[in-house]
Amino acid sequence: MMKLHEDASLHGDAPVAAQAGMMNDRRELALVAVERTRMPMVVTDPRQPDAPIVLANQAFLDLTGYSSEEVLGRNCRFLQGPGTSADDVDKIRHGLAEGNDVEVELLNYRKDGSSFVNQLAISPVLADDGTLLYYFGSQKDVTERRRAQLLEDTERRLLMEVDHRAMNAMALVQSIVRLSRGDTPEAYAASIQGRVDALACAHRLLAKRSWTGAQLGELVSVLVASRGDTARVRHDGPDVLLGPRLAQPIALVLNELMENALTHGALSDTEGTVSLQWRCDNGRASLEWREWTSKALSAPKRPGFGIGTIKGVISRQLDGSVKLDWTDRGLHVDLAFDTEGSATQVLD
Ligand SMILES: Cc1cc2nc3c(=O)[nH]c(=O)nc-3n(C[C@H](O)[C@H](O)[C@H](O)COP(=O)(O)O)c2cc1C
Repeated sequence: MMKLHEDASLHGDAPVAAQAGMMNDRRELALVAVERTRMPMVVTDPRQPDAPIVLANQAFLDLTGYSSEEVLGRNCRFLQGPGTSADDVDKIRHGLAEGNDVEVELLNYRKDGSSFVNQLAISPVLADDGTLLYYFGSQKDVTERRRAQLLEDTERRLLMEVDHRAMNAMALVQSIVRLSRGDTPEAYAASIQGRVDALACAHRLLAKRSWTGAQLGELVSVLVASRGDTARVRHDGPDVLLGPRLAQPIALVLNELMENALTHGALSDTEGTVSLQWRCDNGRASLEWREWTSKALSAPKRPGFGIGTIKGVISRQLDGSVKLDWTDRGLHVDLAFDTEGSATQVLD
């Protein structure tokens, strides 16, 4: 808040002068300084109706693109426009009403219609007895700084998200390496390879849609195709977009079903087939996996990593339901889960 002394017109505090003689020139100097500074400035008169601008410096005219005739006598609100936040304007109005200094960044418009972010600072100018005489306002175009800040924030959020996804993928790979089994080093390597490939496949589909999700049908097609004999796996269902956190766990589950069918189930027999159907109601997907073979099969004596993964992912991670039914003609599986569910991604 500035106080106006009797012997000063605009600046309440005397400018520092090196010699006593120079003090006589301070009014002139103050005016020259206001005029010459690159900081846009205005003075408004609250004692006149609608508090018009009574002084505007060249930097203000340069910033806004108006001439002095076009700004003098008008309230500064003419700089506001469609995108100016009502909250910012309220903040100014209330700040002024309470006699406070006001600082706000708000959207303003130049005469040519282009917009800029205005860092506005307003102070009341008071007489010695405390009477309000004028308001002093300075403006600064901070559009570029604001843009850079926004970009920085977006970049930071993006980096955090990338970090989070990388950690999730690492956690999944760690679990796969830890829990996979194989009778020989080659079998162990192959089982890990298949699972990591399934994760990579989901990753590619997510990247294709900028991580908004992955189409279940697309995921099924690619995973089935990666196992060769696609004609024996019939699949069908509506378009279902799996949320970004679901695609990788579901890819793992589908990979385990395929792997199990190829090693122990219907696809281990040359004539066996699989039917995979799904549907989605109110954000809940249900998958029906049916194996069939003419050869009689026996259920595995103890569930391996594959079955453990299916149960772990669907019931614990996705809070869904799993029903496994071993028949002597192959495995029947019913799965249900929310398509927007938030998976925690770690297997145990
Ligand atoms: C000294 C001074 C400078 C101001 N400069 C600006 C400005 O550059 N841009 C702007 O949008 N509003 C500016 N204002 C705010 C408006 O003049 C007005 O106070 C604000 O819109 C709230 O009042 P209203 O609701 O009557 O419009 C300034 C106000 C004062 C007192």
